[in-house]
Amino acid sequence: MIIFVTGGAGFIGSNFLNMFVLKYTEHTFINVDNLTYAANLINLDKVNSLDNYHFEKTDITDFTAVDHLFANYEPDLVIHFAAESHVDRSISGPADFIKTNIMGTFNMLEACRKYWKTGDNRKSFHHVSTDEVFGSLGDKGSFNEKTAYDPRSPYSASKASSDHLVKAYFHTYNLPVKITNCSNNYGPYQFPEKLIPLMIANALEGKPLPVYGDGSNIRDWLYVDDHNRALWAVIERGGVGETYNIGGNSEKTNLQIVTMICEILGQELNQDPETFKKLITFIKDRPGHDYRYAMDSTKLQQELSWQPQETLASGLRKTIRWYLENQDWLKSVKSGDYQNWIQENYENR
Ligand code: NAD
Ligand code: TYD
Repeated sequence: MIIFVTGGAGFIGSNFLNMFVLKYTEHTFINVDNLTYAANLINLDKVNSLDNYHFEKTDITDFTAVDHLFANYEPDLVIHFAAESHVDRSISGPADFIKTNIMGTFNMLEACRKYWKTGDNRKSFHHVSTDEVFGSLGDKGSFNEKTAYDPRSPYSASKASSDHLVKAYFHTYNLPVKITNCSNNYGPYQFPEKLIPLMIANALEGKPLPVYGDGSNIRDWLYVDDHNRALWAVIERGGVGETYNIGGNSEKTNLQIVTMICEILGQELNQDPETFKKLITFIKDRPGHDYRYAMDSTKLQQELSWQPQETLASGLRKTIRWYLENQDWLKSVKSGDYQNWIQENYENR
């Protein structure tokens, strides 16, 4: 197969390529990415020079450019990761989220509709989405594939919109699509604006660990390789037109996660964890902060026999070890844009 991987230079996409380009040498993987602040080609050092990997610097919001790619490569499968992905950035500047997440997805769907013959089920468009489209839970219950959408941030609203477009192209044009909605990921190469890498990076520099509100918001954490293994299971064996929820069954409050990070850092560096815990600082809450997410992955587990391989404890330790061993990577991604963002987002809270 010729496989387009949009957003392959970002966090989840680069972990996906690092796992599958080496494993499936019979397939050719084309990384379609316009290299926003969140992207880093260094993430792809392991696959960069392989014959079955190519990089195309392309903005998916530019239909002409996307159209050229389809004409040149004639892809069989599109795995659509590319998005603006950070909730806080969507609050301070929603426009890019509307453009990339909605218009970008629309362009990808339009190109598939133009180049793929109706009803050709050897083709497939896999849309990578999030649990955040379902909104915010109270203390009980979890999201399943039938839960009604109720997005509450510009990020989740733009992802919900893209999910609806994907479903519409299935029902209206018979485009062979699949959708997965996944819980919060963590692991190597995650940009240090998201909770886990930000806390690791700040702790290593002795900077405050900024916890929003009282730290009681709950997320369901999944190690990135487990997400990517789920994606491959759905790509290979999932039903056309179907949606699958992916979750880690690892719910923690933000304060619990930050405390775990401090403890693991203490063990790995042979230091008193209190040195890090003392850095925890409660700051002004995020506007419209979703209280809790929890995914029911029964469908994926029963139909496709997927199970996460990492526990939160093992995945978090692996992740922290990776950041400790790759402090040059951390330094290199902290560009001017990163510094500006940190200053704007945290200085007045
Ligand atoms: P990321 O922000 O790390 O990477 C996004 C990538 O998309 C970057 O490489 C960026 O350059 C690229 N991109 C952005 N705009 C583009 C454009 N206009 N044209 C081409 N490329 C563009 O994101 P991530 O955390 O790897 O998330 C990947 C996907 O998974 C997203 O669709 C996100 O909604 C979804 N998701 C993420 C999580 C999570 O916890 N990170 C959980 C569930 C679902
Ligand atoms: P984040 O990693 O931004 O993912 P999402 O908002 O998509 O779930 O945030 C995870 C949780 O951590 C969320 O409840 C907000 C919280 N958080 C903090 O408390 N402090 C921070 O500095 C960040 C970035 C997030």
